[in-house]
Amino acid sequence: MRVLYVSTEVFPALKTGGLADVNAALPRALRDAGADVRLLLPAFPALVCAAQGARSAVRMDSPFGGASTRVLLAQLAGVPAYLIDAEEFYARPGNPYVDAAGREWPDNHLRFALLGWVAARFADGSIDGWRPDIVHAHDWHAGLAPAYLAARGGERPASVFTVHNLGYQGEFAAEKFADLALPRDFFSMHGLEFHGKVNFMKAGLHYADRITTVSPGYAREIQTPEFGCGMDGLLRSRAGAVTGILNGVDGAIWNPATDANLALRYDWKNPEGKARCKASLRSALGLADASGPVFGVVSRLTSQKGLDLVLGILPELVACGAQLAMLGAGEPELESAFQAAQARYPGAVSVRLGYDEILAHQLIAGSDVLLVPSRFEPCGLTQMYALAYGSLPLVRRVGGLADTVRDASTENVAADIATGFVFTEASIAGLHGALLRAVALWSDQGQWARVRRAAMQQNFGWESAARLYLELYRELRPLA
Ligand code: ADP
Ligand code: GLC
Repeated sequence: MRVLYVSTEVFPALKTGGLADVNAALPRALRDAGADVRLLLPAFPALVCAAQGARSAVRMDSPFGGASTRVLLAQLAGVPAYLIDAEEFYARPGNPYVDAAGREWPDNHLRFALLGWVAARFADGSIDGWRPDIVHAHDWHAGLAPAYLAARGGERPASVFTVHNLGYQGEFAAEKFADLALPRDFFSMHGLEFHGKVNFMKAGLHYADRITTVSPGYAREIQTPEFGCGMDGLLRSRAGAVTGILNGVDGAIWNPATDANLALRYDWKNPEGKARCKASLRSALGLADASGPVFGVVSRLTSQKGLDLVLGILPELVACGAQLAMLGAGEPELESAFQAAQARYPGAVSVRLGYDEILAHQLIAGSDVLLVPSRFEPCGLTQMYALAYGSLPLVRRVGGLADTVRDASTENVAADIATGFVFTEASIAGLHGALLRAVALWSDQGQWARVRRAAMQQNFGWESAARLYLELYRELRPLA
């Protein structure tokens, strides 16, 4: 089974969110399961730096202008990777999608059209003599790959399109369509046109042979107006082609028994090291030594993540003797609101703005509860990392959060199946209720230890996701 895995970021070389973690772990898990998976990515500077043994596989002229484009073959994170070397599009430092001021690059439609176009060029085996059975494209940046494959017609690899976040769709003005070298009739309601604009996400959803998303819960939710971001009608019409496959945890990176970033390592049989991690986190972040629980946050700061609700419950959280340790970066209004909270509650609220991989590990290990009150969450990885580290996730009942955390109700605790705290309503009152339940459980340390043990024993390895993707590829293979 030959699979071309088309995406834009890979941990640790280039990461803006959970997508990079998935792109590092899933291809490796699929290769371990026997598939010949190869990555296709733009040659962003950070990826070129991390790539090993690069050699030129082919040179070609694209319809998007600029000098001729080279495709390099290298190894990235232990997986063969084709890198599209087109300097005028990709040789820009920093974030792959936006400039230093956070603005979309004006030629983004061309930059990511080239990614999809090169993916489709693999169909005839002219790149490196390697012809995939499946082209598996991820999120809107790769959304045109299924469209270019469909435009080729005839015998072609089957396409799978995975939605990691329907909230980002890659929308461009109608006049950009002329630059994309696609058949005229593709710009229609039954194509990639959406409310008069070019929409890369819609291209993926419309033209892919199969659609997957990153949890079963989100697969159901995106077919409803509440979570469908306007695509719910299209997704309902393709319901038979939509599957939810839960992401996993990369145990080589996120495991408290082997994590070199921690003050002391630990596991569910010997959880004592966690207390050292908590003490060390408190001292690093300037939090007072106290007997209450530490609530942690590691997150992008966007409205998706519902962290404004955390601001809303801070007075109560602090009043009941708990503390907040936050690491995040994103929307300026949220950043300054959390900074103001730190100034207001010295020693009880500590906020680190920015991106810090090591602190993320230390914070998840050192906190007692990890807050993920998202308005929507396709899968969410931090709550699964928190489970592994015995930091009980406090989450909203949406998407992948609902699929991975079991509420500490009296019955669940008694049955030893509770792993965290789950609330339903996206409101300060809803989150407050869950906070009170967490604090009540904290007052019974015996019960807390039971729930923590159950949390740490959860297994969210990538093997089961890899098995499900392989099954899906096999169903499609007759098409290939
Ligand atoms: P999303 O992809 O929507 O941001 P996920 O939970 O799937 O959410 O993945 C987030 C990833 O980014 C996790 O690996 C998390 O540890 C990491 N992360 C988020 N914010 C930060 C930060 N400020 N510093 C370091 N890592 C972060
Ligand atoms: C997106 C989603 C997140 C998911 C990640 C990896 O960034 O917001 O929920 O875990 O992709 O699939």
